Amino acid sequence: MEKLSLAERGKRRLDFDRKEMPVLSRIKEDWSRSRPLAGKKISCCLHITTETALLMETLAAGGAEVRLCPSNPLSTQDDVVAYLNEVGIVTYGKRGDSETDFYRNIARCLEIEPQVIIDDGCDMTIYYLNELEEEFPGFLGVCEETTTGIIRLRAMEKDGALPFAAVDVNGSQIKHLFDNHYGTGQSTITGLMTATNRMIAGTDFVVVGYGYCGEGIARDAAGLNARVHVVETDPIKSLRACMDGFNATDMAEAARIGDIFVTATGNKHVIDGEHIASMKDGAVLANSGHFNVEINLDWLEENATASEDVNEHVVKYQLPEGQEVYILAEGRLVNLCAGQGHPASVMDMSFAGQALSSKWLFDNQDKLEDRVYQVPAEIDNEIARIKLASKGMKHQKLTQAQIEYLNSWQEGT
Ligand SMILES: NC(=O)c1ccc[n+]([C@@H]2O[C@H](COP(=O)([O-])OP(=O)(O)OC[C@H]3O[C@@H](n4cnc5c(N)ncnc54)[C@H](O)[C@@H]3O)[C@@H](O)[C@H]2O)c1
Repeated sequence: MEKLSLAERGKRRLDFDRKEMPVLSRIKEDWSRSRPLAGKKISCCLHITTETALLMETLAAGGAEVRLCPSNPLSTQDDVVAYLNEVGIVTYGKRGDSETDFYRNIARCLEIEPQVIIDDGCDMTIYYLNELEEEFPGFLGVCEETTTGIIRLRAMEKDGALPFAAVDVNGSQIKHLFDNHYGTGQSTITGLMTATNRMIAGTDFVVVGYGYCGEGIARDAAGLNARVHVVETDPIKSLRACMDGFNATDMAEAARIGDIFVTATGNKHVIDGEHIASMKDGAVLANSGHFNVEINLDWLEENATASEDVNEHVVKYQLPEGQEVYILAEGRLVNLCAGQGHPASVMDMSFAGQALSSKWLFDNQDKLEDRVYQVPAEIDNEIARIKLASKGMKHQKLTQAQIEYLNSWQEGT
């Protein structure tokens, strides 16, 4: 391949992915004419990938001053950072940044005193709330991308500690039904295969957490002919896993059976020391939940008799009982850290939701209350319509008579 500058490589990869992002591209085109965000300031803390670059271009095309920093030090694509800076969109961070760099980048992003934050995991939001002394003038609120961030925002709302509006972009249909489910499913398997080149077929594959992400991971592992076992704390979701054809079980049993483990719960130590201790020799452990706390890595560090790097994404730990287990991507999001993250086609919809939700905050600024808002159904429906049309497909429209029938209690059987 010809030798390219970092920025040119980022540009070429973005151009390749643009074709898969018709919704965001259409919004960008419309906004470059209507300029609905002219004079607005938006700071973003997101995984820095090609798809994020198109979101930044879209907000900038709408007239906003934007700044971007990474929401995870291991997922940053340096060529995208270089490209964005070259086209004048101020972007901080590089792959593998330290924790100090991580928070310094957040602080630099907030220097523009934005009215809106677009966040993934709530770290920029919490930093704004806890570390900065004064509220930014005209600050409106936050658009949050992921389940873990929403859990934090809802906890704040419950305690009366949320001092602005927040939009639950993760909760929109267009996000969790597609991004969490199909996006995390496919890219988690890609991350696992990139890191290990292990055969998935014929393995006992344990998925911990059967929410939107876990369902997608289980389905894709089964699609590659793994025997899938599901560990889930909710009995109804466990029953769904059973009806979906998987073995619903608990962590103690799954630990003894599994060849490959993937966590996607948003919870802490769902694979704990006692589970790791009972695993088979050669077990592979990965996480696709937001934080690297789902596998008890502290236990491993304290109890392993030795550890060594196998490759860029795999570390081998020798257990006192003699087995070896492998941790992928330091227990961080395996799909982003060892793979390329979600496919562009799915991020197209999630980031269209982010773009339209941030505009919604500006459009509704006089009515906003200090609470967590759902993404309005019109935004979801609009994104779905554009995406469907881009695939050459359509949906059936209700007739007036059908609308009346569905809304009436007088017309009976
Ligand atoms: N990898 C990615 O790119 C990506 C994408 C979207 C979301 N996420 C993250 O993935 C995590 C899950 O997201 P989701 O949308 O599937 O959430 P979800 O709430 O739909 O599902 C999480 C599930 O985990 C279960 N759970 C909680 N504690 C458990 C335990 N100890 N053992 C077994 N199951 C347990 C819950 O009952 C729930 O069913 C979150 O941290 C989210 O932020 C990651």
